[in-house]
Amino acid sequence: MSFFCNGPVALVAQHDEHNGQGWRVIQFQEVTKTFGSRTAVNKVSFNIEKPQMVGIIGRSGAGKSTLLRMINRLTPASAGQILFDGRDILSLKGGMMRRWQRDCAMVFQQFNLVPRLDVVTNVMLGRLNGHGTLKSLFNIFSQEDVNSALGALDRLGIAQEATKRAEELSGGQQQRVAIARALMQDPHMILADEPIASLDPMNAKIVMDALREIHERDNKIVICNLHTLDTARTYCDRVIGMRDGFLVFDGAPEALTTAVAREIYGADESFNEAATSTAIDAGQSGSRESAGAMTPAAAAV
Ligand SMILES: Nc1ncnc2c1ncn2[C@@H]1O[C@H](COP(=O)(O)OP(=O)(O)O)[C@@H](O)[C@H]1O
Ligand SMILES: [Mg+2]
Repeated sequence: MSFFCNGPVALVAQHDEHNGQGWRVIQFQEVTKTFGSRTAVNKVSFNIEKPQMVGIIGRSGAGKSTLLRMINRLTPASAGQILFDGRDILSLKGGMMRRWQRDCAMVFQQFNLVPRLDVVTNVMLGRLNGHGTLKSLFNIFSQEDVNSALGALDRLGIAQEATKRAEELSGGQQQRVAIARALMQDPHMILADEPIASLDPMNAKIVMDALREIHERDNKIVICNLHTLDTARTYCDRVIGMRDGFLVFDGAPEALTTAVAREIYGADESFNEAATSTAIDAGQSGSRESAGAMTPAAAAV
């Protein structure tokens, strides 16, 4: 069975607001972004119908970041629709749009913390959308906010760093602070754009384990742009491959064979997967039971 699509294809038919199991459905319908004459995302259609952990892979420039940024309206789409619970996300304005942006928290490659602020305040900044502007300006947080932030840090295993300035932490710790900040938004989903691209393998594993744990324990959708195939295979329930703005693959990680990867990356026979590896050892992850259930073909590459 081929998972390849020649250009834009609506993979799943229309659905009701909920999928019958109480999960919210997000639908992408021919979502397109052009920058001048360049089409960064080209009529991409797919649905997420349950709280999956979705990995988006593809070579640099394939459109991964643009796709993610359109979801939370950091980048305006040129055409198409994104629906959540049947609601048109791309036409939201003002307070409704800010509310939506709080509902889909972003995690970035470069963490985007305020370096000189202490860790716990950085985490509480995730609550800003929930406060009035004046209150935010004067940096007034309630005891409840402080407790929630400490709880989020504790969950990420870094509560002991709460009073340090963010810039004093290692990259891996900073990314965990950023994830704690995302949790403070109490979002419907977490959108992570290359969250481990700046980290060493050990910290990459800690951060990916944390995202997987949030997905599993909180039942949240996590969409994660990843530049390494092994990470996508190890952590994600579903992998979407992009090439030149098109969605060219949508399937289970087990279906992501070397031949398929070669197509996604537009590489020839010399394609070497190791070049995309973060060296996270799938066998040691323990975070995803099915990580060990890769097909022999996938495991052998
Ligand atoms: N703000 C922008 N202005 C112009 N072109 C852009 C902008 N952002 C992205 N692009 C272009 O869109 C394409 C997709 O970029 P991007 O989404 O960043 O890809 P990826 O995240 O897969 O590396 C690239 O050709 C890139 O140069
Ligand atoms: Mg990118």
